[in-house]
Amino acid sequence: MIETMIPDVGDVARWIDEARHLDRRAVLDLLALPRAALFAAADSLRRARMGDDVFLRGIVEFSNICTNDCLYCGIRRSAEPTRRYRMELDEILDVAGRMARWQQKTIVLQSGELASAAEDRRIGEIVRRIKETTDLAVTLSAGNRPRSVYAQWRDCGMDRYLLRFETSDPKLFRYLHPDCTLEERLRCLHDLRSLGVQVGSGFMIGVPGETLGILADNILLCRDLDLDMIGIGPFISHPGTPLASQANAYAEDTAMYFVAMAVLRLVNPDSHIPATTAFDAILPHEGRDLCLQRGANVFMPNNTPGRYRRDYQLYPNKPCVDEDGLQCSQCVAARIWALGRMIGDGPGHSHKTHDL
Ligand code: SAM
Ligand code: FES
Repeated sequence: MIETMIPDVGDVARWIDEARHLDRRAVLDLLALPRAALFAAADSLRRARMGDDVFLRGIVEFSNICTNDCLYCGIRRSAEPTRRYRMELDEILDVAGRMARWQQKTIVLQSGELASAAEDRRIGEIVRRIKETTDLAVTLSAGNRPRSVYAQWRDCGMDRYLLRFETSDPKLFRYLHPDCTLEERLRCLHDLRSLGVQVGSGFMIGVPGETLGILADNILLCRDLDLDMIGIGPFISHPGTPLASQANAYAEDTAMYFVAMAVLRLVNPDSHIPATTAFDAILPHEGRDLCLQRGANVFMPNNTPGRYRRDYQLYPNKPCVDEDGLQCSQCVAARIWALGRMIGDGPGHSHKTHDL
């Protein structure tokens, strides 16, 4: 019975229709499928819907200043003694200017969250200057902001926004985020969509308190939000946070991280799904490659200048902290080619159309 739920490439159209109607029980069944068959199905569906190209989104962690105190996060407001930094416009433009040589067509600008009109204007200016001086698509990831700020950034040229909902369980969300509610986070995602911005979201896998039911709901919420891109990665406990002693909910069965990735693809056939950095922290040099073989089609090389990387440690064992953008881009290309895949040409915009 369960076997019939594994989509095969020849039946893609039927599966896509079925995926739209899956409920929590059905997703729980997918999470329990034999793993080799599940991974193969996710890989087939990824190939059928997204192709073999791997799109690169180069990430620049441009500031670690944050006024939030998310319980899990290594750069939270109370995290000490992190050196706080903020990259200057020229430094960011310098990185952006090199990216074409690294075959990267999208820059992802990520930072902590700062409720400051001056910083909002500065970020808008950064986006505007990148659009004026390069052909890059620009993704921002700077937390919850009012709709008017998102509109201001879109008018400066922002193409996409990345804001994970982290968990679909409102109580667990509130516990993890003293400064924000799930409702507020979802309001931000809705505002971004209504502004015509491509929307990325996602969740951490295995935050303390997560059940399999919540994991299934997380996957379904990604589908119901009709996301253009979905980033998920294992929760990794950071020693400088209140969750220091809390293990990942799947610590005894770490293959569950990849099960989540594969089921995410089955339920979201047409979304871009990155192989996120946290998988490499769990399985060094290998985690992201396995993601690319289990549903993912995007890779996010780290372009943050080496001198800042140690100050953006969201979790321990974050890879590449001693490298620079050039080294990361060479390493990423080699990894993609070793899988028999190619680097995607073009910006890798969303495959979706949304009724606004
Ligand atoms: N301020 C923006 C925001 O909140 O969306 C972007 C920065 S935030 C540090 C980026 C992502 O890092 C979060 O969405 C979260 O999922 C992830 N993250 C933070 N701490 C983590 C941890 N301990 N383990 C795994 N992922 C973590
Ligand atoms: Fe602000 Fe993590 S708590 S970026």
